[in-house]
Amino acid sequence: MQQQWSEIDTYIESHLLPQDPILSQTVQNTHDKGLAEHLAVAPNQGMLLQMLIQMNHCKRVLELGTFAAYSTMWLARALPADGYVLTIEGREAHALVGQENINNAKLTVPVELKIGRAADVLRELPADTAPFDFIFIDADKQSYPEYIDLCLEHSHSGTIIVLDNVIRAGDIIDPANHKPSIEGIRAAYNKLQNHPQILSCTALQTVGCKGHDGFAIAIVK
Ligand code: DHB
Ligand code: MG
Repeated sequence: MQQQWSEIDTYIESHLLPQDPILSQTVQNTHDKGLAEHLAVAPNQGMLLQMLIQMNHCKRVLELGTFAAYSTMWLARALPADGYVLTIEGREAHALVGQENINNAKLTVPVELKIGRAADVLRELPADTAPFDFIFIDADKQSYPEYIDLCLEHSHSGTIIVLDNVIRAGDIIDPANHKPSIEGIRAAYNKLQNHPQILSCTALQTVGCKGHDGFAIAIVK
């Protein structure tokens, strides 16, 4: 099925998504630096993130897990001139490529990349940091439950939280799979279930050039 999923993603991309030299350059540079491109979101997924931000008139965006900043581009481009993105990357080698891609992207809003474990960076943010309107959780999966708690502390009523990679080709329902990443995702579902600070939450499976995976989306009460 993978080949057909990828071909359909190419079809969607060729019809509905802008040809964008800066996004292409980001993908190329990421490839040239030898980083695993499959860690980035697909173009049609990036557009979905952009649209969620636009639909909700979000201005302040937080991303956990910059990787090479491909998703960061989509987040930043969704924003009005007074927007702001804080993106956090735990792996220095990824952050270096991410920063280079951001520097080359001619973005019109400030994008701040902080290096460190997302939980540590979030705990060290100044106490007067304004809450974020949109949060994309895409860092190490084993820490997702901790990230949900920390992100809720940096949210307001109406903040949208999107979590990437919540299906992992079905590994989440494989009882034999006890990888820390998979256990982390399961614990994230358990945390979101009937959470007093979550107004609504769902998850959607996706197939495409990145395989079979999915997003969870939550609105903060
Ligand atoms: C992996 C991480 C991601 O965030 C992703 O979107 C795909 C794969 C990984 O660590 O394998
Ligand atoms: Mg991801």
